[in-house]
Amino acid sequence: MNRDIEHYPAGLAVIELDRCVSTNNYLKDNYGNLKDRLPVLVTAEAQTGGRGRDQRLWVSSAGIGLYSSFGFAPGHGGNLNLLPLIAAISVIETLGDISGLSFDLKWPNDILYEGKKVAGILIENTVSGSEIFCVVGIGINLNHTIGDFPGELTDRATSLMMVSGLAGGYRVDEVNRRLAAVLFDWLENLKEGGNTEVIESANWFSRRLKGERISFHQSPGDRVISGVFKGIHSDGGLILQDQDGSTKIYYSGEID
Ligand code: BTN
Repeated sequence: MNRDIEHYPAGLAVIELDRCVSTNNYLKDNYGNLKDRLPVLVTAEAQTGGRGRDQRLWVSSAGIGLYSSFGFAPGHGGNLNLLPLIAAISVIETLGDISGLSFDLKWPNDILYEGKKVAGILIENTVSGSEIFCVVGIGINLNHTIGDFPGELTDRATSLMMVSGLAGGYRVDEVNRRLAAVLFDWLENLKEGGNTEVIESANWFSRRLKGERISFHQSPGDRVISGVFKGIHSDGGLILQDQDGSTKIYYSGEID
């Protein structure tokens, strides 16, 4: 597919920051001013309080990572339930395009290379009166070396530069533009009724994890379910085969 990766997609307002606490926070804090300009992308060279899921910190030093958040009103994303998968698919395609490597999707939206995390997504839906605002925060480890990760993550995290070996690393602005173009293509596709394609892609990118025994932390709550990952359901849910052999679909939680 021919994509314009020199420019951001038409209709996307872009705010480029040197530094902020968190690009997700920036969007939520400025919703009142930004709501008439949606969709909006906020990028930062560094975050002082980058957040991952479950209150975890997200390493956000300058120059090594992509820290970006897209703000959408529901109309932009068609079926908001599929936005987590679309965001993850878009990151996987972007990383594949620029490196030639093949990445895995760990439901709902972790991006792995040979079992190690390269990128993560934090989706926060905010309700303001009758309006819903959807923030899709994306963090990609682009140019990290192993010393950039805290000790407890060194065997679980990696970066695009570490796995591709590209000397000099990747330009964050180029990756941002490409990612925005891919994401917008998927949103267009969804508006035209492409739900099936989203699920097919998500299943394709999850194929290497199918059949694996996993621990699933259901949320809300602290129930942990052990089962076999069977794929992604047509409505975006996780299909898990429980120990008694029955198959159930889960919509909220995280795989260990
Ligand atoms: C995760 O896998 O735990 C999600 C990580 C999400 C990190 C991104 S970086 C840009 C945006 N701003 C944040 O504070 N978090 C997200």
